[in-house]
Amino acid sequence: MRKHIVAGNWKMNNDLADTAGLITNLKKERNLGDAEVIIAPTFVNLYKAFESLSDSNIKVAAQNMHQEESGAFTGEISAKMLKGIGINTVILGHSERRAYFHETDELLAKKVNSALKNELRIIFCFGEELQDRKDEKHEDVVATQLENALFHLDKDAWSNIILAYEPVWAIGTGETASPEQAQEMHQFIRNTIASTYGQEVADGVSILYGGSVKPTNAKEIFNKKDVDGGLIGGAALNATDFFEIVNAFQQ
Ligand code: 13P
Repeated sequence: MRKHIVAGNWKMNNDLADTAGLITNLKKERNLGDAEVIIAPTFVNLYKAFESLSDSNIKVAAQNMHQEESGAFTGEISAKMLKGIGINTVILGHSERRAYFHETDELLAKKVNSALKNELRIIFCFGEELQDRKDEKHEDVVATQLENALFHLDKDAWSNIILAYEPVWAIGTGETASPEQAQEMHQFIRNTIASTYGQEVADGVSILYGGSVKPTNAKEIFNKKDVDGGLIGGAALNATDFFEIVNAFQQ
Protein backbone atom coordinates (compact mmCIF):
# COMPACT_ATOMS: atom_id res chain seq x y z
CA MET A 1 0.00 0.00 0.00
CA ARG A 2 1.17 3.52 -0.74
CA LYS A 3 2.20 5.69 2.15
CA HIS A 4 -0.17 8.46 3.21
CA ILE A 5 1.75 11.67 3.88
CA VAL A 6 0.67 15.08 5.12
CA ALA A 7 3.42 17.69 4.97
CA GLY A 8 3.28 21.28 6.18
CA ASN A 9 5.27 23.77 4.13
CA TRP A 10 5.74 26.71 6.46
CA LYS A 11 7.30 28.84 3.69
CA MET A 12 8.88 32.08 5.04
CA ASN A 13 6.77 32.11 8.19
CA ASN A 14 7.58 31.69 11.90
CA ASP A 15 10.63 33.10 13.66
CA LEU A 16 12.42 31.05 16.31
CA ALA A 17 9.87 31.80 19.03
CA ASP A 18 6.93 31.08 16.72
CA THR A 19 8.59 27.86 15.61
CA ALA A 20 9.01 26.69 19.20
CA GLY A 21 5.40 27.64 19.98
CA LEU A 22 3.92 25.84 16.98
CA ILE A 23 6.01 22.74 17.66
CA THR A 24 4.81 22.68 21.28
CA ASN A 25 1.24 22.77 19.99
CA LEU A 26 1.89 20.15 17.29
CA LYS A 27 3.28 17.78 19.92
CA LYS A 28 -0.01 18.02 21.83
CA GLU A 29 -1.94 16.75 18.80
CA ARG A 30 -2.33 13.08 17.95
CA ASN A 31 -2.11 11.39 14.60
CA LEU A 32 -5.11 9.12 14.76
CA GLY A 33 -4.57 7.68 11.32
CA ASP A 34 -1.72 6.18 9.38
CA ALA A 35 -0.38 9.31 7.70
CA GLU A 36 3.27 10.22 8.00
CA VAL A 37 3.48 13.80 9.26
CA ILE A 38 6.20 16.18 8.08
CA ILE A 39 6.83 19.87 8.70
CA ALA A 40 9.16 22.09 6.70
CA PRO A 41 10.26 25.17 8.66
CA THR A 42 12.60 27.82 7.28
CA PHE A 43 16.34 26.95 7.14
CA VAL A 44 17.31 29.10 10.10
CA ASN A 45 14.99 27.16 12.40
CA LEU A 46 15.47 23.75 10.85
CA TYR A 47 17.90 22.30 13.37
CA LYS A 48 15.93 23.64 16.31
CA ALA A 49 12.78 22.04 14.89
CA PHE A 50 14.59 18.78 14.23
CA GLU A 51 15.94 18.65 17.80
CA SER A 52 12.59 19.58 19.35
CA LEU A 53 10.81 16.85 17.40
CA SER A 54 13.39 14.11 17.95
CA ASP A 55 11.13 12.50 20.56
CA SER A 56 8.04 12.59 18.32
CA ASN A 57 6.77 10.96 15.12
CA ILE A 58 6.70 14.28 13.29
CA LYS A 59 9.48 14.49 10.71
CA VAL A 60 11.25 17.60 9.51
CA ALA A 61 12.00 18.53 5.90
CA ALA A 62 13.87 21.40 4.26
CA GLN A 63 12.08 23.68 1.81
CA ASN A 64 14.93 23.85 -0.71
CA MET A 65 18.64 23.21 -1.25
CA HIS A 66 21.43 24.11 -3.68
CA GLN A 67 22.48 21.65 -6.36
CA GLU A 68 26.20 21.73 -5.52
CA GLU A 69 27.69 20.09 -2.43
CA SER A 70 29.95 22.99 -1.44
CA GLY A 71 31.79 25.96 -2.88
CA ALA A 72 31.49 29.67 -3.55
CA PHE A 73 27.69 29.97 -3.50
CA THR A 74 27.05 32.69 -0.94
CA GLY A 75 23.85 32.24 0.98
CA GLU A 76 23.18 28.71 -0.20
CA ILE A 77 22.74 25.40 1.61
CA SER A 78 23.64 21.96 0.25
CA ALA A 79 22.14 18.50 0.49
CA LYS A 80 25.21 17.39 2.42
CA MET A 81 24.65 20.11 5.02
CA LEU A 82 21.02 19.10 5.44
CA LYS A 83 22.01 15.48 5.83
CA GLY A 84 24.66 16.57 8.35
CA ILE A 85 22.06 17.96 10.75
CA GLY A 86 19.84 14.89 10.43
CA ILE A 87 17.37 16.05 7.78
CA ASN A 88 16.24 13.26 5.47
CA THR A 89 13.66 14.97 3.26
CA VAL A 90 13.74 18.05 1.04
CA ILE A 91 11.03 19.87 -0.91
CA LEU A 92 12.17 20.71 -4.44
CA GLY A 93 10.52 22.55 -7.30
CA HIS A 94 7.90 24.51 -5.40
CA SER A 95 6.09 26.92 -7.72
CA GLU A 96 7.27 29.87 -5.61
CA ARG A 97 10.88 28.77 -6.22
CA ARG A 98 10.11 28.42 -9.91
CA ALA A 99 8.35 31.80 -10.17
CA TYR A 100 10.42 34.04 -7.86
CA PHE A 101 13.83 32.38 -8.05
CA HIS A 102 13.68 31.27 -11.67
CA GLU A 103 14.20 27.59 -10.99
CA THR A 104 13.90 25.67 -14.23
CA ASP A 105 13.27 21.98 -14.84
CA GLU A 106 16.93 21.63 -15.87
CA LEU A 107 18.15 23.14 -12.59
CA LEU A 108 15.70 20.98 -10.66
CA ALA A 109 17.07 17.85 -12.34
CA LYS A 110 20.48 18.78 -10.90
CA LYS A 111 19.00 19.38 -7.45
CA VAL A 112 17.21 16.03 -7.65
CA ASN A 113 20.50 14.29 -8.47
CA SER A 114 22.32 15.96 -5.61
CA ALA A 115 19.55 15.18 -3.13
CA LEU A 116 19.47 11.50 -4.13
CA LYS A 117 23.26 11.24 -4.07
CA ASN A 118 23.10 12.44 -0.47
CA GLU A 119 20.31 10.00 0.36
CA LEU A 120 17.65 12.62 0.84
CA ARG A 121 14.05 11.81 0.07
CA ILE A 122 12.45 14.37 -2.24
CA ILE A 123 9.01 15.94 -2.18
CA PHE A 124 8.94 17.10 -5.79
CA CYS A 125 6.44 19.88 -6.55
CA PHE A 126 5.00 20.71 -9.94
CA GLY A 127 1.74 21.93 -11.43
CA GLU A 128 0.18 24.06 -14.12
CA GLU A 129 -0.75 27.73 -14.12
CA LEU A 130 -4.29 28.97 -14.61
CA GLN A 131 -3.71 29.87 -18.26
CA ASP A 132 -2.44 26.34 -18.97
CA ARG A 133 -5.69 24.93 -17.65
CA LYS A 134 -7.78 27.44 -19.59
CA ASP A 135 -5.86 26.43 -22.73
CA GLU A 136 -6.41 22.76 -21.82
CA LYS A 137 -2.66 22.25 -21.75
CA HIS A 138 -2.45 21.30 -18.08
CA GLU A 139 -1.67 17.64 -18.72
CA ASP A 140 1.08 18.48 -21.21
CA VAL A 141 2.63 20.99 -18.82
CA VAL A 142 2.67 18.54 -15.94
CA ALA A 143 4.03 15.66 -18.05
CA THR A 144 6.83 17.91 -19.34
CA GLN A 145 7.76 19.05 -15.82
CA LEU A 146 8.01 15.43 -14.70
CA GLU A 147 9.93 14.29 -17.77
CA ASN A 148 12.45 17.13 -17.62
CA ALA A 149 13.23 16.89 -13.92
CA LEU A 150 12.70 13.24 -13.02
CA PHE A 151 12.56 10.90 -15.98
CA HIS A 152 16.34 10.57 -16.26
CA LEU A 153 16.26 8.64 -12.97
CA ASP A 154 16.52 4.90 -12.84
CA LYS A 155 13.69 2.81 -11.46
CA ASP A 156 15.21 2.32 -8.01
CA ALA A 157 15.44 6.06 -7.38
CA TRP A 158 11.65 6.29 -7.31
CA SER A 159 11.48 4.80 -3.82
CA ASN A 160 12.85 8.16 -2.64
CA ILE A 161 10.49 10.36 -4.64
CA ILE A 162 7.23 11.77 -3.31
CA LEU A 163 5.26 13.85 -5.80
CA ALA A 164 3.27 16.94 -4.88
CA TYR A 165 0.86 18.15 -7.53
CA GLU A 166 0.19 21.80 -6.79
CA PRO A 167 -1.83 23.69 -9.40
CA VAL A 168 -0.40 27.21 -9.18
CA TRP A 169 -3.86 28.78 -9.37
CA ALA A 170 -4.87 26.99 -6.16
CA ILE A 171 -1.90 28.01 -4.00
CA GLY A 172 -2.74 30.55 -1.32
CA THR A 173 -5.80 31.66 -3.26
CA GLY A 174 -8.51 29.85 -1.33
CA GLU A 175 -9.48 28.25 -4.61
CA THR A 176 -8.96 24.49 -4.49
CA ALA A 177 -8.99 22.02 -7.32
CA SER A 178 -12.20 20.05 -6.99
CA PRO A 179 -11.70 16.50 -5.70
CA GLU A 180 -12.56 15.33 -9.24
CA GLN A 181 -9.96 17.62 -10.84
CA ALA A 182 -7.37 16.41 -8.33
CA GLN A 183 -8.19 12.75 -8.96
CA GLU A 184 -8.16 13.24 -12.73
CA MET A 185 -4.70 14.81 -12.61
CA HIS A 186 -3.28 12.36 -10.07
CA GLN A 187 -4.44 9.48 -12.24
CA PHE A 188 -2.85 11.11 -15.28
CA ILE A 189 0.41 11.53 -13.34
CA ARG A 190 0.38 7.88 -12.26
CA ASN A 191 -0.31 6.75 -15.82
CA THR A 192 2.53 8.95 -17.10
CA ILE A 193 4.93 7.32 -14.63
CA ALA A 194 3.59 3.87 -15.51
CA SER A 195 4.21 4.40 -19.21
CA THR A 196 7.90 5.07 -18.55
CA TYR A 197 8.67 3.02 -15.46
CA GLY A 198 5.93 0.38 -15.36
CA GLN A 199 2.87 -0.05 -13.17
CA GLU A 200 4.71 -1.27 -10.08
CA VAL A 201 6.78 1.92 -9.78
CA ALA A 202 3.72 4.08 -10.53
CA ASP A 203 1.62 2.29 -7.93
CA GLY A 204 4.29 2.77 -5.28
CA VAL A 205 4.68 6.56 -5.61
CA SER A 206 2.78 8.72 -3.13
CA ILE A 207 1.20 11.68 -4.93
CA LEU A 208 0.22 14.53 -2.63
CA TYR A 209 -2.18 17.32 -3.54
CA GLY A 210 -1.35 20.92 -2.58
CA GLY A 211 -3.28 24.16 -2.95
CA SER A 212 -5.65 25.64 -0.36
CA VAL A 213 -6.19 22.38 1.51
CA LYS A 214 -8.13 23.15 4.70
CA PRO A 215 -9.81 21.10 7.43
CA THR A 216 -13.08 21.70 5.58
CA ASN A 217 -12.03 20.18 2.24
CA ALA A 218 -9.24 17.72 3.13
CA LYS A 219 -11.45 14.71 3.61
CA GLU A 220 -13.14 14.84 0.21
CA ILE A 221 -9.81 15.39 -1.56
CA PHE A 222 -8.02 12.64 0.38
CA ASN A 223 -10.89 10.24 -0.32
CA LYS A 224 -9.90 10.11 -3.97
CA LYS A 225 -8.16 6.95 -5.09
CA ASP A 226 -4.93 8.47 -6.39
CA VAL A 227 -4.55 11.19 -3.76
CA ASP A 228 -2.12 9.94 -1.13
CA GLY A 229 -1.91 13.03 1.04
CA GLY A 230 -1.35 16.74 1.00
CA LEU A 231 1.25 19.47 0.98
CA ILE A 232 -0.25 22.15 3.16
CA GLY A 233 0.68 25.85 3.26
CA GLY A 234 -1.45 28.29 5.24
CA ALA A 235 -3.36 25.69 7.24
CA ALA A 236 -0.10 24.11 8.44
CA LEU A 237 0.63 27.20 10.53
CA ASN A 238 -2.05 26.25 13.04
CA ALA A 239 -1.56 22.99 14.93
CA THR A 240 -5.27 22.19 15.29
CA ASP A 241 -6.04 22.83 11.62
CA PHE A 242 -2.99 20.90 10.50
CA PHE A 243 -3.88 17.83 12.53
CA GLU A 244 -7.50 18.00 11.44
CA ILE A 245 -6.10 17.65 7.93
CA VAL A 246 -3.69 14.86 8.99
CA ASN A 247 -6.61 13.02 10.56
CA ALA A 248 -8.91 13.51 7.56
CA PHE A 249 -7.60 10.14 6.32
CA GLN A 250 -9.06 7.95 8.96
CA GLN A 251 -12.55 9.38 9.34
P1 13P B 1 -1.69 26.86 0.59
O1 13P B 1 -2.14 25.63 1.32
O2 13P B 1 -1.48 28.03 1.48
O3 13P B 1 -2.52 27.14 -0.62
O4 13P B 1 -0.22 26.52 0.02
C1 13P B 1 -0.01 25.34 -0.65
C2 13P B 1 1.44 25.19 -0.89
O5 13P B 1 2.04 25.94 -1.63
C3 13P B 1 2.15 24.13 -0.16
O6 13P B 1 3.45 23.96 -0.64
